[in-house]
Amino acid sequence: MSASGVAGWDAEAEGYDEPADHGLRDPSVRAAWRSLLLGVLPQPPARVAEMGCGTGTLSVLMADAGLEVDALDFSPVMLAAARAKGAARSGVRFTEADASHPPFEQDAYDAVLARHVLWALPDPADALARWLRLLVPGGTLVLVEGHWSTGAGLRADQTVALVEGTGREARLTRLDDPALWGRTIEDDRYLVVSPSPALS
Ligand SMILES: C[S@@+](CC[C@H](N)C(=O)[O-])C[C@H]1O[C@@H](n2cnc3c(N)ncnc32)[C@H](O)[C@@H]1O
Repeated sequence: MSASGVAGWDAEAEGYDEPADHGLRDPSVRAAWRSLLLGVLPQPPARVAEMGCGTGTLSVLMADAGLEVDALDFSPVMLAAARAKGAARSGVRFTEADASHPPFEQDAYDAVLARHVLWALPDPADALARWLRLLVPGGTLVLVEGHWSTGAGLRADQTVALVEGTGREARLTRLDDPALWGRTIEDDRYLVVSPSPALS
């Protein structure tokens, strides 16, 4: 992954869903992500704020599972694809906005999810603090990040340190199962879940 800025991500949008883990078009890859995410997200009824939703693949997956999803992205072209995907669903809304300053209601969401977004932000620590303000007491932060063979991304220890820097626990799981990616991976991909401090 290498894009940056709105224009860079707009340019990525057309072919964005082609890799197996992006579009989740392969039912077995989709099932792997569904199992992973629903295993750490709250049970419906619950509200999820998704940062940097891209083409909306995970937003729709969550809505299909009965979650109420507010998703944002700053790329109009990514969002057009997301809105087309979510058109037949009632449980998902898409907003054009900067993930560094999410315009969502504070103290309102049971979970915040971001996959492959934190690494791309200019000030990840500041963004993370703003994301946490969206959570209700007892809310869960779910981050999927990686440090890719291109050299881009965040190492797992960096993401764990960012979460722990907010005073919350960070539970790290390596995502090395080929079922998630449709192929064997060599680089470092992982999940960090920060449960409610009260529940840890
Ligand atoms: C690697 S893609 C991940 C998309 C989606 N989360 C997924 O997992 O398929 C990164 C996404 O973050 C968005 N993004 C990057 N920086 C952003 C920012 N500051 N505000 C909002 N969206 C941003 C990009 O437009 C892009 O859609």
